[in-house]
Amino acid sequence: MRVAIIGSGPAGFYAAEALLRRTDTVVHVDMFDRLPTPYGLVRGGVAPDHQSIKTVTRVYEKTAARPTFRFLGNVCLGRDVTVEELRRHYHQIVYAVGNEDDRRLGIPGEGIARCTPVAVFIGWYNGHPDYRHARIDLSVSRVAVVGNGNTAIDAARILLRTPAELEKTDVAAHALEALRNSRVREVFILGRRGPEQAAFTPPELKEFGEMEDVDPIVAPEELAGCVIPETAGGSQQEKNLKILQSFAARQPGAKAQFSEKTKKLHLRFLVSPTEIMADAAGKVAGLVLEKNRLEVQPDGSLSARGTGETEVLDVGMVLTAIGFAAKRIAGVPYDETARVIANEDGRVVDPVSRSVIANEYVVGWARSGPQGLIGAHKGASAHVVEHMMADGAGLAARELPDHKAIDSLLRQRGVQIVSFDDWKRLDDVEVARGERRGAPRDKIADVEAMLEVLAQR
Ligand SMILES: Cc1cc2nc3c(=O)[nH]c(=O)nc-3n(C[C@H](O)[C@H](O)[C@H](O)COP(=O)(O)OP(=O)(O)OC[C@H]3O[C@@H](n4cnc5c(N)ncnc54)[C@H](O)[C@@H]3O)c2cc1C
Ligand SMILES: NC(=O)c1ccc[n+]([C@@H]2O[C@H](COP(=O)([O-])OP(=O)(O)OC[C@H]3O[C@@H](n4cnc5c(N)ncnc54)[C@H](OP(=O)(O)O)[C@@H]3O)[C@@H](O)[C@H]2O)c1
Repeated sequence: MRVAIIGSGPAGFYAAEALLRRTDTVVHVDMFDRLPTPYGLVRGGVAPDHQSIKTVTRVYEKTAARPTFRFLGNVCLGRDVTVEELRRHYHQIVYAVGNEDDRRLGIPGEGIARCTPVAVFIGWYNGHPDYRHARIDLSVSRVAVVGNGNTAIDAARILLRTPAELEKTDVAAHALEALRNSRVREVFILGRRGPEQAAFTPPELKEFGEMEDVDPIVAPEELAGCVIPETAGGSQQEKNLKILQSFAARQPGAKAQFSEKTKKLHLRFLVSPTEIMADAAGKVAGLVLEKNRLEVQPDGSLSARGTGETEVLDVGMVLTAIGFAAKRIAGVPYDETARVIANEDGRVVDPVSRSVIANEYVVGWARSGPQGLIGAHKGASAHVVEHMMADGAGLAARELPDHKAIDSLLRQRGVQIVSFDDWKRLDDVEVARGERRGAPRDKIADVEAMLEVLAQR
């Protein structure tokens, strides 16, 4: 059986592993990625100061070493190859393309200079080639990050790290330089609902209290009325509230140790931006916030409802971290409501009739939306592989073009395919460059530059 997997993030790699370890069918996997480098958000999203998370790539290296696995990097579905062509060359296709679009607030002023979707900022500091030349202007002292998830926390933490803390990470060299000269001193993380509804997780929240030069600040009144549920083992909600209370206790005037560090991280709740204000040069000059209250929905959930009471937050930059969505790819059915590849339990379907499109599957964030940690994809991708095997009986009998025919097709189009061995060479170069600055790696953040390195055989 020959399978094409599009996307080399966690979900794609776990699907490959589940296919390649089958004992009932010999599966050949060709894994494509639009970048010359594998691993998706493990390389381009996970924070540079969270290196231990990135060691998961050792597991993916083992999958890549299997004899019937090939990596075809620098090949973009929809640009270099079409879905129709993949259908001709493979028995089954798995889309593992992640969520590469941002969600927007849809308020006046969104998109003006210094109002940036968080994916741009994250891609920029992680050396993602799409964002190498993003304009990140750190000449302002106060920044708002909208959203109460771990992505908002990551962005705020990187903005507030000291150069010494960043130097030993694999933050991209261009970002390290800009962050060294940054004038940012205060970051406001803004939640539209309350502390009890925050999506961030306790270890990530707690880290703000352990940073070299940051005081986390929560006004005690933000926590008024919050009830800590006493659950066995402690829920995320309980742990978050306890950490927030410990931050609130550090306030000046309160009993505990308030250290007066240079930078401040403010956590605000029950506020929604309604307008981004611009200065005469058209850059962010402030954020209008509306105070919210919580409203119980018919299904019992709590949503934020504006009260009409507003304030202006004096900030010079806004990052929106309110979730992601799958990008549309020509020929791949798209669910406009959920903003994922249209599917029923991982089987791709027509978005209107909901009828199954045979032999096409979707895994990871492209299937479920932007929820879940890396480890969650292992079981989820294996589940979809079970569907593939159940549906695929007899498929292997269908004759396909020679297994290298896809390479010839791509080369005729001038596509320079990057193999896994090529990637290992880039990896060695990046690690060697990193050693010079005492970092785990110094990323090459430009596709042309990567291809130049590979041309030097
Ligand atoms: C900022 C951030 C930090 C995170 N930090 C953590 C963390 O610390 N710990 C944790 O457990 N989880 C973390 N996560 C979550 C984790 O990264 C995701 O759960 C996971 O990466 C999703 O896997 P995926 O394979 O679906 O998508 P991705 O990892 O996004 O991989 C998708 C791949 O598809 C490729 N692709 C896209 N379009 C095409 C195309 N048209 N043709 C070819 N290739 C294409 C992309 O280049 C990419 O390599 C973080 C997420 C974000 C956004
Ligand atoms: N360090 C890590 O481990 C790490 C880092 C980054 C990401 N991740 C993981 O990746 C996944 C995605 O994380 P994420 O932070 O991008 O998304 P998320 O967890 O879904 O959080 C999104 C946040 O945006 C808010 N939001 C949505 N629409 C909004 C609007 N219109 N106005 C104001 N706020 C709005 C949400 O509030 P509501 O709750 O009110 O909708 C929520 O607080 C999660 O599973 C996360 O744990 C992990």
